[in-house]
Amino acid sequence: MLKKRTLAVIASISTIIFVTSATMPAEKEPEYKNLKVLPKKISHEDMDKVMRHYSKSLGVKCNFCHAKSADGSNKLDFASDEKPEKLSAREMMKMTNKINLKYFGGKKEVFNHAAMEVSCNTCHNGKSHPEEH
Ligand code: HEC
Ligand code: HEC
Repeated sequence: MLKKRTLAVIASISTIIFVTSATMPAEKEPEYKNLKVLPKKISHEDMDKVMRHYSKSLGVKCNFCHAKSADGSNKLDFASDEKPEKLSAREMMKMTNKINLKYFGGKKEVFNHAAMEVSCNTCHNGKSHPEEH
């Protein structure tokens, strides 16, 4: 027969195990959910730089490409592909990467706009539609 004391020890050990497993971070999930061109493990800092470069180059805010959340709040659902502008932007990203890789001997650092010869801004120069001068 187990003594009361032993039972108490078992109980407290299982409490400790339970508490630690509940507070320990689970397998780190990738921060971004829907990346098809950018590297999946892009850092938060690089993502910020890339997105600010897009906005500035096109003279727009984030909501030009990113749809509103379905929950009715004013938040944007960055992972959503609902806006056609986001899909166009992806094609533009591939095109810009290809121009740099193929014609400028660029490196595969496709998100480092500072190291790119041709960036979104080369054509857009602050406009969403470069041909509208
Ligand atoms: C010109 C279009 C455009 C603008 C403007 C833009 N984005 Fe994006 N954003 C994209 C595209 C395209 C992707 C997906 C990239 C990919 O597939 O690799 C993306 C992806 C993201 C993601 C990752 C979402 C996920 O979980 O997959 C975040 C976060 C994000 N953008 C934030 C922003 C913020 C914040 C701004 C404003 C400062 C912004 N974006 C402005 C086009 C844009
Ligand atoms: C070689 C020149 C060039 C480069 C580089 C370029 N673009 Fe474009 N982009 C254009 C032109 C021209 C249009 C207009 C096409 C049209 O109106 O049919 C356009 C249109 C777009 C549109 C569609 C706007 C809308 O209202 O639907 C988005 C979004 C866009 N570009 C994002 C980008 C992003 C992001 C980059 C950098 C990754 C980029 N572009 C790089 C030339 C370029």
